[in-house]
Amino acid sequence: MINQSDIYNWLGETDPDRLTELWELADDVRGENVGDEVHLRGLLEFSNRCVRPCAYCGLRAENRDLQRYRMTPDEILACARKATELGYGTVVFQSGQDQAMTGQWLAEIIERITEQLPLAITLSVGERTAEEFALWRRAGAGRYLLRFETSDPALYDLTHPGLDGGRLNRFTILHTLRRLGYELGSGVMVGIPGQSFRTLARDIEMFAKLDLDMIGSGPFIPTPNTPLGENSDAFPPAERQVPNDELMSYKVIALTRLICPQANIPTTTAVATLDGPEAYELGLRRGANVIMPNITPPEYRRLYAIYPDKAGVNQDDDYHERLKKMITAVGRRIGVGRGDSPNYRRVSKCAL
Ligand code: 5AD
Repeated sequence: MINQSDIYNWLGETDPDRLTELWELADDVRGENVGDEVHLRGLLEFSNRCVRPCAYCGLRAENRDLQRYRMTPDEILACARKATELGYGTVVFQSGQDQAMTGQWLAEIIERITEQLPLAITLSVGERTAEEFALWRRAGAGRYLLRFETSDPALYDLTHPGLDGGRLNRFTILHTLRRLGYELGSGVMVGIPGQSFRTLARDIEMFAKLDLDMIGSGPFIPTPNTPLGENSDAFPPAERQVPNDELMSYKVIALTRLICPQANIPTTTAVATLDGPEAYELGLRRGANVIMPNITPPEYRRLYAIYPDKAGVNQDDDYHERLKKMITAVGRRIGVGRGDSPNYRRVSKCAL
């Protein structure tokens, strides 16, 4: 099994032949552990409201120029229906930390979808209470995504000022979610200012320690009107800064596959934002087995401005067909059904 010092060395590797070895190794491990199916998850960004002041994110509460929205339950249901028609087995409900959204409101939507559609439901709605997580789980949500963003507590605190000065711990929340039986997803940003090679190696090791079922990471993209968009030297690391480029992002995908062979690993929108549409293909060849096409209605999609020029904002109706063709062209199959993480299936079996 790959350890922290191997990961550290791979992160610094520049020799193209050695990197080809890394891509091939990750691709082999992917094939052996999760097979050739590529699971498509319809990503629905249903609310861009957010109370948090995260230093990197365009949805931060202080960003008063951004028009805010929360989709209605009927709009959300219509999108979920569209995801089913497109052949997706999962919808991912993502939002900012929309504190005015009640747990009950979301629970009712989850129940309606579970009753009407054959979809797995993944939530990615931020830091909420254990009661709300339990409510949503009972309503039918099976998976939860919450990136821990960085394993360095000092950097976490710098980039995530707490509300009312309070310090939040995403690791505690991840443990709560696991205890409630969620299939558990997390991840980090690659190249966030202040991230050293050693920190990133620790982040990747943390994926295995948390025994994650789903792991999504992508490059940090500077966003105007955010503290880190204006000044990327705000938090100089003690050691060499990790670049926020596409090569580093692919390395993280490949190393994540090596350390968590059975996890579902997406090739994320942020990589495609940097590297163009072929990023999805490269990600799939370098360890990933999931793509999360955006199914947010265009009028809302452009307002979900986590970072600028997000890939897919202008995506046309042919996009889904092109994606499916690409998957076949790289010798893979489109996943059918819910596409649960083999890692989660293993964990649940152990728990019985
Ligand atoms: N660049 C890259 N990723 C970002 N995210 C938020 N802001 C940015 C940014 N400027 C990521 C965070 C969050 C996810 C939904 O989007 O990792 O968890």
